[in-house]
Amino acid sequence: MDRFEDAKLRIKEATDLVALIESYLPLRPRGRLLVALCPFHAESSASFTVYREEQFFRCYGCGKTGDVFSWLMDRDGLSFREAMELLADRSGVSMEGVFRGGAQPGLKGPDPYEALAEVCGFFERALLAPDAGRLAREYLEQRGLSEAMGPWRLGFHPAAGALSHFVQQQNLPRDVLEAAGLLRNGRELFAQRLMFPIEDERGRIVGFGGRIVPGTPGSEGDADYKPPKYYNSPESPFFNKRRVLFGLHRAKKAGQRRIVVMEGYTDVIACHLAGFTGAVASLGTAFTAEHARTVERYATEGLVLMFDGDRAGVQAAERAMRELMNSRLQVKIALMGDADGSAKDPADVVIQRPGEDIELVTERRARFADVIEGAEDHLAVWFRLLRRRLDLSQAVNVEAAAQECASLLALVESSVRQSALLEQMARHLAVPAPTLERLLQKSKRQRPAARDGETVTAPMVAAPLTPMQRAENEILACVLAAPTLLDRFDIDSAGELSAEVATLLTMAIEGAVLGRQQSIELMSYMMSRAADQPALQERLGIAYARAQKMPEPAAVLTGLLAGRRRLSGDALRRVWRQQLQAALAVGDQPRAAELQDQLLSRLREDRPRKDTS
Ligand code: UTP
Ligand code: MN
Repeated sequence: MDRFEDAKLRIKEATDLVALIESYLPLRPRGRLLVALCPFHAESSASFTVYREEQFFRCYGCGKTGDVFSWLMDRDGLSFREAMELLADRSGVSMEGVFRGGAQPGLKGPDPYEALAEVCGFFERALLAPDAGRLAREYLEQRGLSEAMGPWRLGFHPAAGALSHFVQQQNLPRDVLEAAGLLRNGRELFAQRLMFPIEDERGRIVGFGGRIVPGTPGSEGDADYKPPKYYNSPESPFFNKRRVLFGLHRAKKAGQRRIVVMEGYTDVIACHLAGFTGAVASLGTAFTAEHARTVERYATEGLVLMFDGDRAGVQAAERAMRELMNSRLQVKIALMGDADGSAKDPADVVIQRPGEDIELVTERRARFADVIEGAEDHLAVWFRLLRRRLDLSQAVNVEAAAQECASLLALVESSVRQSALLEQMARHLAVPAPTLERLLQKSKRQRPAARDGETVTAPMVAAPLTPMQRAENEILACVLAAPTLLDRFDIDSAGELSAEVATLLTMAIEGAVLGRQQSIELMSYMMSRAADQPALQERLGIAYARAQKMPEPAAVLTGLLAGRRRLSGDALRRVWRQQLQAALAVGDQPRAAELQDQLLSRLREDRPRKDTS
C-alpha cells in the first residue's frame, strides 16, 4: 500500500467518528446506532445515522454519506487534503512524504501553497524595490493604504519577464502558477499590477487579485481596449471562490464574532486598518450559501452584508438573499448609500488620506459604524427594496410581489421556517397567509429553476437508483453482508458494472485479502479507502443499508450473478441472430453456419437442466 493509503487508514484508526461528530452536534442512541437531526438538510425527525463500529455516517433523508474525512469536508468545507492534515495533526499520525509527489490524483507535486507563498514574497520585494515598486507605493500612499503593505503582504508584479525568471530560478511548479492565473502560455497576465494575496480560511495563499496602478505602462489601455481594473486568480483545486472570503483568516485571528461582508479588497483592508476587523469580501462572485457555511462557526454575533445603495448593490443584495434562505446565521443587510449619499466604498469612508484632518475621519468612521449597527434583518431590507421597485398599493404589483415571495419561500428546506417566513411575508404584503400558501404550492410544483446562472439551493433528495444501479447495489450488499463470499468472487463474472461499483468490489476483494472478514470491519475498511471519493462513499452507504437487511446473501448473490449472465447472454444472442440474418441475406454460408453453431451451443448452456433440479 502506498504512503497515501497507509496514512489514510492510520488516521482513520486513530480518529473516532462519534467523538468528532459529537463535537458539532448531539447524538442520541438508537439501538446500536446513533442518530441526530441531519446537519445537511432540514428535517424534523432524526434520519442522520452514525454507525459507531463501522465508523461512517449516513442520512436516510438526503443520502449524505461519509466518514471522518467527508464529515470535515462537507461540514466545514475543507478539502480532502486539509481534512487529512487536520486529523493527522490531532491524532499524531505523521504526514511526511504523503503529499509530496504522492500518488493522490490532483495533488501531485510540491505544495501549491508554498509555491504561491514564494511568489508572494517575490511580489512583496518588488513593491519595496526603489524603482520597480515606486508607482505602486505612491498609489497606496495616496489612498492611505501604505500601512497595509507589510501586514497584508501587498506586492507589485514587475514588468513581464521577471516572474518567469524567478519561477525558473527557484524551480517553482509552473502548473501551480498557471492554475493561479499568473502564467498563461508563458505570458505574465498580472504584469505591472498591485498584488493582493488571497488567503483561505487557514491563512494560506490560494490566489491573487491584481489592481491596475495608474501611470504604469499599459494601465490606460488604448482606444480599443481598456484593461479591467482587477485581474483575479481563477478557481483552482486550491481556490474555491464559493468558499473563500478575502480577509476571513484575519477576522478570525482578530477574534471577530460579527462578520461584515463587503465587495472590494481595498474596502476590507481599509476597514481592518480603521479597526473594523470583522470585514471580509467575497471574490468576484456574489455571497454564496457556502460562504455562509464557512463563517457560520465564527459569526456567532451575526453576519452583516454590506452593499452599495445603487442598483448593482441592490441586485447583489437580492441574490445573496436567495443564497441565504437556509442559513443558520442571523443575516442582516446594510446599504451604504443609505446613511451617506456621497461616498459608497467603505474604503473611502473609513480611511485617513494623507493630510486629512483626523477629526473628520473619526466622524466618518463613526457614521460607518452606525451603518453597520443599523443593519436590518435581511427580510426587512428585502421588502424595503421590493417596495422601492413595486408600488404595493397597486393590486397588480402585489401579485408580482407575492410571486417573488413564493419563489423565495420555495427555497426554504425547513417546513417550520417556511411557514414562519410565510406568515411574515403575508403580513408585509397585506395578503392572507393561505393565499400566499397556495402560490407557494404552485411554484413548488413548477420546480425552482435556476435563474441566470445563480444556483438555487433546492431541497436535497436522494436520487432514486436506476435498475442497473439497483442490481449492482445488491451485489455489493451481498458481499458486504457476507465478506467470505469474496473468496470465491470473480469480478469478471458479474457482468457489466459501473466504474464506481467495479472499484468498490475491487476494494472489497482487497479488503478480504487483508483479512477484513467481518461485515463491520470490511465496511470500515472500504469507507477509508473511498475517503476522498464522495460518490463511492455514497454508493457504499446505500449498499450497506441494504446489506443489513439481506436475509441470505450467498443465495441472493448466486441468483443475481446467474441472472446477469443470462441477461448479457440474451443481448449477445440478439446480436448473433441479427448477424445470422445478415449473413444469410448476403449468402455468406460459412459465416451463417458458424453463427448458428454459436447460438445453439449457447442455448444449450443456458437452458436449466431438469434432471439436476
Ligand atoms: P471595486 O471596483 O469596488 O474595487 O470592485 P475596490 O476593491 O473598491 O478597489 P478600488 O477601491 O477601486 O481600488 C470591488 C471588487 O470587485 C472585483 C474585485 O474583487 C474588487 O475588489 N473586481 C472589480 C474585479 O474582479 N474586477 C474588476 O475589474 C473590478
Ligand atoms: Mn473601491
